[in-house]
Amino acid sequence: MAYGLLKGKRGVISGALNEQSIAWKVAALAHGEGAQIVLTNAPVAMRMGEIDNLAKATGSPIIPADATKDEDLGKLFAEAKQALGGPVDFVLHSIGMSPNVRKARAYNDLNYEWYKQTLDISAMSFHRMIQAAVKQDALADGGSIVALSYIAAQRVFAGYGDMADAKALLESIARSWGYHLGQQKRIRVNTVSQSPSKTTAGSGIKGFTGLFDFADAMSPLGNAPTEDCAAYIISLFSDLTRYVTMQNLYHDGGFSSTGATPMVVEKVSPEE
Ligand SMILES: NC(=O)c1ccc[n+]([C@@H]2O[C@H](COP(=O)([O-])OP(=O)(O)OC[C@H]3O[C@@H](n4cnc5c(N)ncnc54)[C@H](O)[C@@H]3O)[C@@H](O)[C@H]2O)c1
Repeated sequence: MAYGLLKGKRGVISGALNEQSIAWKVAALAHGEGAQIVLTNAPVAMRMGEIDNLAKATGSPIIPADATKDEDLGKLFAEAKQALGGPVDFVLHSIGMSPNVRKARAYNDLNYEWYKQTLDISAMSFHRMIQAAVKQDALADGGSIVALSYIAAQRVFAGYGDMADAKALLESIARSWGYHLGQQKRIRVNTVSQSPSKTTAGSGIKGFTGLFDFADAMSPLGNAPTEDCAAYIISLFSDLTRYVTMQNLYHDGGFSSTGATPMVVEKVSPEE
């Protein structure tokens, strides 16, 4: 059911690679809620061609941009402002990649060039994106900016490697920009910490299925589906959450507040 929550709003959505992507679900729902959007992804992601289907379904232009390149991001926001007919009310950062995780390099054997890439792609890109938008004067007063995070920023999940450090930085960047943009333009900045989800990025983590099943068994509501994550993000883009800022918001079926569940204890200690 659509509520018209984003009627008249303009947004930029990054990170829709295929139908499984969290950003894909956000884009589809934002369109359904009445927003006009611009889609963006790394030039290399364009070659897969799937984003074209989303662009057609939502009537949205695609502006390719590598989120580690300031020039691309400047162009993105200048062109988005033009294509949408004004400054943007919401921005989604849904970008993550670690060469160390991808190549299964353990945390005690990191390749530091790759580590820099992890931090650049998965965290610093959030700072770059916002700074580029500010420099292009492309953010509307009272807007909302959201990035996707994961609970490995707070607790150790061994297979998540250097992405944990990237998420911790990402959440800190959200707080810092949230302060500055809140004061200057009443723009709020938050991160949404999502349950493990079966996407291209998620499935790239070593032992992902085990992590997924563990989180599911540890969450009273079970793992949160990506469609519901999108719905939560839409609420953050809407005017219903105008005083929510500088927060890391868990969208995880209760995982982050659960200590132990009978299902998990039974697995560890079956005889009891
Ligand atoms: N899948 C999960 O389990 C999970 C859980 C919590 C948080 N997240 C986060 O959600 C976000 C979206 O991931 P997803 O799960 O939808 O997977 P996904 O693979 O569909 O999305 C990741 C996106 O990042 C883009 N990207 C990579 N390098 C880029 C660059 N240099 N410039 C621009 N874009 C680039 C990819 O093209 C892709 O579209 C990520 O930040 C991820 O860490 C995922």
